[in-house]
Amino acid sequence: MLNNFPLHLHPMSQFSAAITACNTESKFAEAYSKGVSKASYWEYMFEDSMNLIAKLPPIAATIYRNLYRDGSSIGAIDKEKDWSANFTSMLGYDNPTLTELMRLYLTIHSDHEGGNVSAHTVHLIGSALSDPYLAFAGGMNGLAGPLHGLANQEVLVWLTKLQKDLGPDASEELVKEFVWKTLKSGQVVPGYGHAVLRRTDPRYIVQRDFALKHLPEDPLFKLVSQLYKIVPQILLELGKVKNPWPNVDAHSGVLLQYFGMTEMQFYTVLFGVSRALGTTASMVWDRALGLPIERPKSMTTEGLMKLVGAV
Ligand code: MLT
Repeated sequence: MLNNFPLHLHPMSQFSAAITACNTESKFAEAYSKGVSKASYWEYMFEDSMNLIAKLPPIAATIYRNLYRDGSSIGAIDKEKDWSANFTSMLGYDNPTLTELMRLYLTIHSDHEGGNVSAHTVHLIGSALSDPYLAFAGGMNGLAGPLHGLANQEVLVWLTKLQKDLGPDASEELVKEFVWKTLKSGQVVPGYGHAVLRRTDPRYIVQRDFALKHLPEDPLFKLVSQLYKIVPQILLELGKVKNPWPNVDAHSGVLLQYFGMTEMQFYTVLFGVSRALGTTASMVWDRALGLPIERPKSMTTEGLMKLVGAV
């Protein structure tokens, strides 16, 4: 299926479609159709989750190779190596520092409290007893949104534009002006702010530490550091911003491009591969705890009016 998709189909659409199609393999769906007891749902969810996690690197790497490496083979799995090392080599890279970065990347994007769009969507779809493949694919469609996982792609597009417009080693004044221009044109500074965090995202900090160790002189990293000094102040000045600090997406693309992975459209797929770890773990617990189907509360007009003191 992947080998027959048109090349203009976004990598996230390919990723989500392929994961959905994998539900032909679902142990949970099979067991459910045979009427297995509720008490053992979680065991089948666990099997599916482990299989899904194993399938994601070859799926993602096949998409990458088809789109950006002339459809070359992802090679064989090396059982002596870990998930990240295999994934990096399937993508076609053999730099040990990039493998180390991939370990960091896949760890920090796994999840961080379940309330974000992708994790919550996986939980919601799973609550209908859809199998992990269907539920996770739904979460990936949420991750593909620009306010969620697509932001890492948007950050690099914005940084590249900034660099192109202002040239290398732009002064603080010029960078400030560029940031204000972005805000005044009704856009956001990609990679800044967060729905719940109220300080610099710790996932930004660990990526910054990695960059300081491995690529301190990289021009894009220097630009990201410069923005870290400039943007929060501007956002505070702007007012109405609850969190002016950078989030995980503000940094990841810069690290990947340094190691030669410059295909920005693919970045969200990497985020998705990682997110399987957190979301499937939660889904196994959901079934073990027998959590019910999720449904937002509905209210009558009268109920709403009472709530706001209008009657
Ligand atoms: C995430 O990791 O999903 C992002 O930080 C977004 C969020 O938590 O809402």
